[in-house]
Amino acid sequence: MGAGVLTPLLADAGLAVGPAGDLLMGEVPLRVVAEAMGTPTYVYNAAVIRERFARLDAAFGALPHRICYAVKANGNLAVLRLLADCGAGADIVSGGELLRALAAGFPAERIVFSGVGKTDDELQAAITAGVGHINVESVAELRRLAVLAEAQGARVPVGIRINPDVTAETHPYISTGKGGLKFGIPIDQLPDAYAVLDETSALVLDALAMHLGSQIMQPTPWVAALDRLLEVLANARRRGHAPTTLDIGGGIGIRYRDEAPMAPEDWVAAIHARLAATGCTVQLEPGRFLVGPAGVMLTRIVHRKHSGGREIAIVDAGMNDLLRPSLYQAWHQIVAVDAPEASTVPTDVVGPVCETGDFLGLERDLPEVPAGALLAVLGAGAYAFAMSSNYNARARAAEVLVDGDRWAEVRPRERLRDLFASETPDPFADEAR
Ligand code: LLP
Repeated sequence: MGAGVLTPLLADAGLAVGPAGDLLMGEVPLRVVAEAMGTPTYVYNAAVIRERFARLDAAFGALPHRICYAVKANGNLAVLRLLADCGAGADIVSGGELLRALAAGFPAERIVFSGVGKTDDELQAAITAGVGHINVESVAELRRLAVLAEAQGARVPVGIRINPDVTAETHPYISTGKGGLKFGIPIDQLPDAYAVLDETSALVLDALAMHLGSQIMQPTPWVAALDRLLEVLANARRRGHAPTTLDIGGGIGIRYRDEAPMAPEDWVAAIHARLAATGCTVQLEPGRFLVGPAGVMLTRIVHRKHSGGREIAIVDAGMNDLLRPSLYQAWHQIVAVDAPEASTVPTDVVGPVCETGDFLGLERDLPEVPAGALLAVLGAGAYAFAMSSNYNARARAAEVLVDGDRWAEVRPRERLRDLFASETPDPFADEAR
């Protein structure tokens, strides 16, 4: 494997080759974690998450800002607590994420509730909890929120998420800022939103928001979209609103292979002047940037085989554990933990699930390590465990947090019998037949 590709990826994850030639995360040998926990297991590096938060935070300098971590990327309570302790807020998209964020210790006022399809129950729960902002994504949602807020006698700070109609170059499934998609309120419908706000004192327009998509590598789309957001801000002010917050969304890209993502400092430099001129607090909602590089998934080779001229390693993790390669044809670097720098043969790394699309990586440069050998799949801190499922009646993996020379289980592997323990095999057994 080209060391040139691997070195920056290992550094991003806080991984290094130890004295015995195997991979360490911090000071913890990944082999030791796998032996104790079994595989597949997700392992997250606390130091990397803290460093990435600190770097992003510092990039904003004296500009008033609030980093609300997008819980959807990785909602493990230990990861959430770590980020809450760093001073982060939370960006949530469901009632479940609200409960998670509160359970992890995020103060309610540091939580922003985003999402296109919040139900009445979810909105009600957010009002009751007293979240910092509810970002609405349609005029209909704003109307419902007004009714709920009035019924509770609450005064609710809302953000309006606009659809800036800007295309970000990324996978089409994760580009969200273009007109005609389900996200955000189109700018030409804002008069209707203002009309709703004019009719109620239960809602206060406290934020204007946008989110352009995910895994964006350049500042360009933010620059274009911010100009639209600033026009909207000026217009809102003319109408007598005084938003205190500009939410510029998440989406900061990371390196999975050999990409050159924008440095956070360059991103902020490109948008700083526009933001500073508003006098608003800047809110951002990064998920992947903070946690993506900080995680690996450990998996073992179950069997090797040759077929149709291809070398195939069948591993014990599949698309139910890590969906991104199957769903987005996403590249995750794969490394042999005990021989990260050995010479390689092109290998298809596939899972045990009964689908042809169940692979972690095709034609990867991997050493011909035998069945039982341990592999680490990199870039597995974001949208990895979070998107896992029980497909094929497979238990979801264990999760571990590493901090320097310490490591701890932060979620046990699911037990197979628990997967169906609450099901009812014979629902009509008591009825006369
Ligand atoms: N804010 C909003 C409103 C979002 O919809 C998202 C992500 C974020 C923030 C965080 O974006 P990030 O900073 O993590 O890029 N499952 C896909 C990614 C889906 C992103 C959905 N929205 C993947 O695995 O690539």
